[in-house]
Amino acid sequence: MATLTIRNLDEAAKQALRERAAKNGRSMEEEMRSILAGLSGNATVPAPAQVYAPAPMMPMAARAAENQSLAGKRILLIISGGIAAYKSLDLIRRLRERGASVRPVMTAAAQQFVTLLAVGALAADHVYIDLFSREDEQDVGHVRLARESDLICVAPATADLMAKMAHGLAGDLASTVLLATNQPVLIAPAMNPAMWSHPATRRNTDVLSRDGIHMIGPMRGEMAESGEAGEGRMAEPLEIVAAIEALLDDTPKPLAGRKAIVTSGPTHEPIDPVRYIANRSSGKQGHAIAGALARLGADVTLVSGPVVIPDPAGVEVVRVESAREMLDAVTLALPADVAVMVAAVADWRVAAQSDEKIKKKQGEGPQPLHLTENPDILKTVGHHEQRPRLVVGFAAETADVIANAQGKLARKGADFIVANDVSPETGIMGGDRNRVRIVSGAGVEEWPDLSKDEVAKRLAVKIAERITDGD
Ligand code: C5P
Repeated sequence: MATLTIRNLDEAAKQALRERAAKNGRSMEEEMRSILAGLSGNATVPAPAQVYAPAPMMPMAARAAENQSLAGKRILLIISGGIAAYKSLDLIRRLRERGASVRPVMTAAAQQFVTLLAVGALAADHVYIDLFSREDEQDVGHVRLARESDLICVAPATADLMAKMAHGLAGDLASTVLLATNQPVLIAPAMNPAMWSHPATRRNTDVLSRDGIHMIGPMRGEMAESGEAGEGRMAEPLEIVAAIEALLDDTPKPLAGRKAIVTSGPTHEPIDPVRYIANRSSGKQGHAIAGALARLGADVTLVSGPVVIPDPAGVEVVRVESAREMLDAVTLALPADVAVMVAAVADWRVAAQSDEKIKKKQGEGPQPLHLTENPDILKTVGHHEQRPRLVVGFAAETADVIANAQGKLARKGADFIVANDVSPETGIMGGDRNRVRIVSGAGVEEWPDLSKDEVAKRLAVKIAERITDGD
C-alpha cells in the first residue's frame, strides 16, 4: 500500500486540509489522523483544548470590561488582503472586549497576511472564506451572513475590494456579502498612497460615499512597507472601534442642540525653539469626556494640548501647544452651554522665550529661567460675560484634595470641581483609571475607582441632567 503523506496530496486537498486543521485548532497531521480515525470508526484523536470555545477572558478584556459600549452587537468583519490586516487582529480584540461578537470573513489575499487560526481564535468563531464552500454555505449562507449582523466593517479595505464594491461585483464571499447586505457598512481603506490618490480610487470612493458607505481614514503617515509615507495608512483599531460605536449608538441624545467646550492634555510652554516645560497629562480623561458628551448629542469643541492618543469620534478638535493658545481657542469657541476644563495647564511659562537655542557658556553655570504666570482658562471662562450655563473644572492634587477643590469652586467660578488625587502611587496621571470626587455647592460625591471612560460617561450624564433640568 502506498504511503499517504501530506506532501503527496494535490494543492486543493492540501488547502482544504490546512483550513480544516486551522478551524479545529489542530496541526495538519493531527487533522489527517482525525479524518482517518473517523473513517475507521475509531475516533481516538483527542479534541484539541480550544476548538472555537468562547475565547478565554483576555487580560485586556478584563480591564475594559466596564466599557461594554458594544454589548450584544454583532459585527461582521471583512478582512481583505493588505499588510494592514495585522491590525485587524487587534481590532477583533478591541471589539470583543467591548462586548461585541465578531464574525470574520477573509478574502483569499487576506490569508496571505494573517492566518485563519489567529483570526478564528481571536474572534472565537468560524472564519468564513469561501462562497462555494458547502460547509460555509450550510452553516449560514452568504445572504444570512450579510444580514445577520448589526454592522459590516471592512478593515483593511483594499483598493481592489473598494473597486468591486463600487461596481457591484460579487465574485467571492466578501464582495457578495457586501452586495447582499442591507446593514450599515464601514470601510477602513488601507493602501499605498499612489493607489489612494489614483483617479480610479478617487472615483470609487465618491461612488461608495454616495452609496451611503461609511469610511474611516485612511490616515497620513508611515506605511508598513519601508520607505513609503503619505495618505493611505489604515486607521488605528481604536479609531475604527470609535467609528463603529458612533454608527451603532442608539442612546438618547439629551444634549442635542447644546454646545460644549472641553480642554484636554498638557500644555507645552516654550523655553527656546527646541525646549519646553510640560507635564505628564495624557489627555485620556479629557478626550473621553469630549467623546461622552458627543455621544449624548452635544456639539463638542475639544481644545487639546499635545497628546498622542486618537481624537474622539464626532468631536471638532482644535490643537494647541501653550496655555495662551488654549485660552484663545476656548474664548473663540464661546458661547457654549457647557465648559469642562480638564487640561493640565502649566501655571507658569518662561517670561522671555529665546528665539535661538540657549547654549551652554564656558565657565558659566546654568542660566536662570524667569517665569511668569499663565492665564487661568477655567477662571476666565467661569467669570466670562459669555459664561456657559455650566462650568466644570478639575483639581489634580497630591494633598488636601477636598479642601483645595472647595477653594477652587468659588475662586474659579465653577459649578463642579472634579477632584482627584494624582500622587504618583495612584497611577492616575497618564493611567487608564481614575477615582474622583465631585465637589459642588451641594456637597461632595464620592465615585468608586472607575475607568476613565466610565468616569467620562457618568460625568456626561450628570452634566446632561443639570443642563436639561428646568428647561
Ligand atoms: O489651579 P489648578 O491648576 O489646580 O486648577 C485646575 C483646574 O483649572 C483644571 O480644571 C484646569 O483645567 C484649570 N486650569 C486652567 N488654566 C490654568 C490652570 C488650571 O484652565 N492656567
